[in-house]
Amino acid sequence: MSTQPELTSIYRFHFTRLPLSMRLTYTMTLLVLGLGYLFALIYVWTSHAGRDGDPMLSVTDLIIAYSGSKSGTKLESALLGPMSGMLPSKERADIIGWIHEGAKEDAYHKGVEDIIQKRCLACHDGSNPHIPNFTKFEGIHEVTQRDTGMNIPTLVRVSHIHLFGLTFIFFITSVIFSHAYVRPLWFKCVVIAVPFLMILFDVFSWYLTKLHPMFAWMVIISGAFMAMAFAIEFFVSLYQMWLYRLPEELEKNGGRIPTIG
Ligand code: HEC
Repeated sequence: MSTQPELTSIYRFHFTRLPLSMRLTYTMTLLVLGLGYLFALIYVWTSHAGRDGDPMLSVTDLIIAYSGSKSGTKLESALLGPMSGMLPSKERADIIGWIHEGAKEDAYHKGVEDIIQKRCLACHDGSNPHIPNFTKFEGIHEVTQRDTGMNIPTLVRVSHIHLFGLTFIFFITSVIFSHAYVRPLWFKCVVIAVPFLMILFDVFSWYLTKLHPMFAWMVIISGAFMAMAFAIEFFVSLYQMWLYRLPEELEKNGGRIPTIG
């Protein structure tokens, strides 16, 4: 006598019905990813804030980072932004003054070169091919030309890192979050789908910002939506895993969440 097996595959078991070992795996994964997210935000801050002269992170900072600055040079926006901690403000003012006077080679050898050698060559000595080499004047000369923003090879490199890395992160958080009981169902689906769309938005808008500065807003908006989705998945999952009491209708259903219909 054969009975039809129950179609459990159309259900997801709620967190509270998962074995302790699995909830621990999810919890620890979320905690480490959360810390990673925090560091990513700090990184965005330290690598872009201050490029426009104002220490806060702004749309202008992103425009300068991706599409360049009409007035400034790469060296100047780096000195005001990500490299500002590398030297005392007096020396920074000396270099910026030299840039404003035309960044001439003979003036460089009278004063500026010593600062660069003392403060910058520890990293900018050519050993890392991804950052400008300042051992010769030519390297400095290049970054004192008009700033055209991040170059395409750099954007391509960062794009593939973001596309792979963020997809892994949101795949993991979404699979975990799928065990949460969230209604209406469409809201749960939006929280799951939006970050993936935003990854695409974000990466495309870097390139578009080169064409028109307005797209820097898209970078910010997609980043904000991604962070919001991450926060919802993070807090709802942890809360429902450890502190939540199942509503009656799920209790009756053996802790199974209907995922369709
Ligand atoms: C501790 C290592 C370190 C020191 C010291 C350092 N830099 Fe950098 N610099 C980096 C790294 C890493 C990058 C690439 C990171 C990035 O693009 O945000 C970089 C990038 C730059 C860029 C390119 C920015 C861009 O938008 O492409 C400039 C210009 C620059 N540094 C100038 C300087 C100057 C001037 C000094 C000395 C006052 C200095 N750096 C000291 C590590 C360093």
